[in-house]
Amino acid sequence: MDGAAIGRAQHFIGNRWVPAAGGQTLDVLDPSDGAPFARIARGEATDVDAAVAAARRAYGAHGEGAWGRTSAVERGRFLMRLAQRVLECEEELARLESRCTGKPLKQGRADARALARYFEYYAGAADKLHGQTLPYTPGMTVLTLREPHGVTGHIIPWNYPMQIFGRSVGAALAAGNACVVKPAEDACLSLLRVAEMAAEAGLPEGALNIVTGFGHEAGAALAAHGGIDHISFTGSPVTGTAVAQAAARHHCPVTLELGGKSPQLVFADAALDEVVPVVVNAIVQNAGQTCSAGSRLLVERAVYEPLLERVGAAIAALRVGPALADLDVGPLIRRSQLQRVWDYLSQAQADGIEVVAAGSVVDSAPQEGFYQAPTLLRDVPRGHRIAQEEIFGPVLAALPFDGEDEALAIANGTPFGLVAGVWTQDGARQMRLARNLRCGQVFINNYGAGGGIELPFGGVKSSGYGREKGFEALLGFTTLKTIAIRHG
Ligand code: NAI
Ligand code: MG
Repeated sequence: MDGAAIGRAQHFIGNRWVPAAGGQTLDVLDPSDGAPFARIARGEATDVDAAVAAARRAYGAHGEGAWGRTSAVERGRFLMRLAQRVLECEEELARLESRCTGKPLKQGRADARALARYFEYYAGAADKLHGQTLPYTPGMTVLTLREPHGVTGHIIPWNYPMQIFGRSVGAALAAGNACVVKPAEDACLSLLRVAEMAAEAGLPEGALNIVTGFGHEAGAALAAHGGIDHISFTGSPVTGTAVAQAAARHHCPVTLELGGKSPQLVFADAALDEVVPVVVNAIVQNAGQTCSAGSRLLVERAVYEPLLERVGAAIAALRVGPALADLDVGPLIRRSQLQRVWDYLSQAQADGIEVVAAGSVVDSAPQEGFYQAPTLLRDVPRGHRIAQEEIFGPVLAALPFDGEDEALAIANGTPFGLVAGVWTQDGARQMRLARNLRCGQVFINNYGAGGGIELPFGGVKSSGYGREKGFEALLGFTTLKTIAIRHG
């Protein structure tokens, strides 16, 4: 593991390591054993000021800075070099990610490869982003320019630091913005290392800056900063509201990705053998700490019992243990998250909700780690907190339904709308549901928690607004200028 990234406890600003202006640091805990193993800089407003100033110099007041002047093709080439570097360092990055987040090493490796894929995708897209010419009155030509916002802010959560950095910073850089990133205090070492690689790959000073620290300090300072031209935030609805309010004071556009309570709708004609592994993976991947986790299992009554039996057997077989032991499931991110899941489960127990099955924590898992066995609950009343709120842990709530209308009503009946999975062989039903589900992505006879670099992703309702991933994200990282020329 890279000692430099672990021991440095500094921000990365203007291609240099910089200590926090106030000299303060924070411990980073390893969720697998609960012990501190690294320190990071505890950034505050002064540090954010320095990072925004560096980004502004790189972009310029109107794109005349070193990065602002870099051509689209050169931005693409830089991202391609960075993708290559990430792939060469997959193992190092995977270990940093797994150590900080607790995710099994295979997931850390998948995340490193996904990061490289985001950079590749946006490398290829950088020089394909362009405006249009518009019909207007005779004697005039009108055209539109897709311009970068300028300096973009990126507030990143701890569940998938590399993937969320890739989709947001990759697209922002491709579009020509200079970036200031505030990663989560729990998990940021991989991103500091990637920023260092970006400098090595030739990124101009200040085009990418990382300020570490607490959300209520560094994060809040970034959201409120008048020098930021766009903010993208992934995390909880409560924090998303605070970020959007702070940004609104200086009329800064915001993209919010706030998680969900995503349903899987399984009809009686579905191929149950195919359903089971996908449904299980969609809730246990990353120990359920995935914005797009499939956390509700809605099953047509005719196959409710047989499906629960099979899903229950698969969940009971899951083994939970330290990240580097690379089992099926790792620990949760921190003790407060474990407590949050316990609170939901004890509420379920108090309300008489039945546990169908639970996985097991291996004996060798350290006592002080933040382990939670994956758990399947059945007959959860549709209005119950367990069926309505994002738990962000490996807890799957099963509910039976009778017919398509009821399935749709339950599926749409939460404050969220991020992803849905529909399992049926009936083509007309697939299409009806795909159109009627209120969410940002619908998967038919599959489910894509986490993946899909090319596929636009984002929510409706309390799941947020704006789209990341795919080409659509590039549009979000630009602003459109219309130029109307009268030439007679
Ligand atoms: P959070 O939303 O508070 O943190 C996400 C990011 O926002 C972190 O980088 C954090 O430092 C930053 N942040 C926190 N407060 C801020 C503020 N006032 N201004 C600006 N930035 C701020 O999430 P937290 O507290 O870590 O987790 C609580 C719950 O949020 C989880 O149980 C889960 O339900 C949800 N969550 C959802 C995620 C998703 O992918 N949709 C990711 C992380 C958390
Ligand atoms: Mg928080």
